[in-house]
Amino acid sequence: MSHQQGFVVWFTGLSGAGKSTLTEALAPLLRARGLRVEVLDGDGVRTNLSKGLGFTKEDRDTNVLRIGFVANLLARNGVAVITAAISPYRDIRDRNRALIEGDGSAFVEVFAAATVEECEARDVKGLYAEARAGTRTGFTGVDDPYEPPLRAEVAVPTGSEPIDVSLGRIVAYLEARGLAPAGETPALAEAAR
Ligand code: ADX
Repeated sequence: MSHQQGFVVWFTGLSGAGKSTLTEALAPLLRARGLRVEVLDGDGVRTNLSKGLGFTKEDRDTNVLRIGFVANLLARNGVAVITAAISPYRDIRDRNRALIEGDGSAFVEVFAAATVEECEARDVKGLYAEARAGTRTGFTGVDDPYEPPLRAEVAVPTGSEPIDVSLGRIVAYLEARGLAPAGETPALAEAAR
């Protein structure tokens, strides 16, 4: 019987800020330390749990609240949950925080703090170009709001530092809070580069 303390690492940040990349690196690292981990990635959620939802404020709120609801169910059963949706609205993130903390789990908001300029310069999916061209409207950071956290537990400047450095900051925080046992990072961080 495991007595793992459930928690949620709640990534927030613009499209292309590195939320999914950090999630993909953090999940195996925490598993290697013996934690049970589940991932609710923005794109993955939108193909199943939130299939059919678009990007209006109402749909985003529904999407983000659903993620919070499922994250809470998992966390209160001792799972380490990592979520990676833009989650652009502060009040909705705070509602999830209240839900999850209210049920006795830790909520660790991690701000992937790359700027629009930095995300746009990379534009991995080509969506910023579409947004600038006007063929995609309501795109977060271009013509739709993004409200940065005011007091995130961890803020990582993902636009200007290597992914393994950001990962290290997050892991150090989780260790300091007693949520993740101490252990190896370098080899796994290397793999995530
Ligand atoms: S959220 O606002 O509801 O939290 P979510 O993280 O699920 O967003 O989805 C964001 C992803 O959807 C982006 O990374 C991008 O690939 C895609 N996307 C498509 N249209 C938009 C849009 N208008 N704004 C932001 N992201 C969009």
